[in-house]
Amino acid sequence: MWVLLLINIKSEREIELMKRAGHLNYLTHEEVKKHLCPGITTEKIDKIAYDYITKNGGVPSCLGYDGFPKSICISINDEVVHGIPKNRKLKDGDIVSIDFTVRLNGYESDAARTYIIGNATKEIKDLVKNTEAALYEGIKEVKPGARIGDISNAIETYAHAHGLSVVEELVGHGIGTDMHESPDIPNFGKKGTGLVLKEGMVLAIEPMLNLGSKEVCMLDDDWTIVTQDESPSAHFEHTVAVTKDGYRILTGE
Ligand code: MF3
Ligand code: CO
Ligand code: CO
Repeated sequence: MWVLLLINIKSEREIELMKRAGHLNYLTHEEVKKHLCPGITTEKIDKIAYDYITKNGGVPSCLGYDGFPKSICISINDEVVHGIPKNRKLKDGDIVSIDFTVRLNGYESDAARTYIIGNATKEIKDLVKNTEAALYEGIKEVKPGARIGDISNAIETYAHAHGLSVVEELVGHGIGTDMHESPDIPNFGKKGTGLVLKEGMVLAIEPMLNLGSKEVCMLDDDWTIVTQDESPSAHFEHTVAVTKDGYRILTGE
């Protein structure tokens, strides 16, 4: 059987436009970060992001995506991804993942960060720190000629070396004019396998790592993904372009 994967290769001009979308995504994360504190509701954080994105000419493209009701995903503690902002207040010790896409000039950008509110145990601090480090381990693999499996394996190896489990049901993805394009980028896999990367591909790499078991399930709201054992989970994501000699992070500064 043949499986045809159409991968959209972006021109330099398109990557410049995606960098602008990614920069607005970055600035929005910076704006949101300023307001995170115990007592703020996740709905209020969502409004801050919506206002900032729209004021700067962008589109909060999660809003209405497959019926998602808000502009950003906020996932707390055992929530892995796709938490829906509501009247829940952040409290000391929460770990809060903020994930959203910003569309600008027709191009999408996707980035996620996880924050600790106030104080947390060393275990939790390490979960967050090591999930971010796992993202960079994956990103470091990106260059023409490398394979998707090299990214996946680097993330998995780092996670397991630090005692964390890898969520398997949700994956990174290509990104461009659509939020989700081919190929999938699992956070586990074998080196030297999968699609060969080419200059002009743009990838959203996004490890979701758990302190306990890797198993997840969906809440009744049909969006929020939680860990089955209720252990905490962290999530970091960047949108990254494959360049002539490596990579460029489009959702960085
Ligand atoms: N930002 C998510 C991702 O990393 C997608 C969010 S789903 C939405 O792929 F419905 F909220 F848009
Ligand atoms: Co995302
Ligand atoms: Co994504």
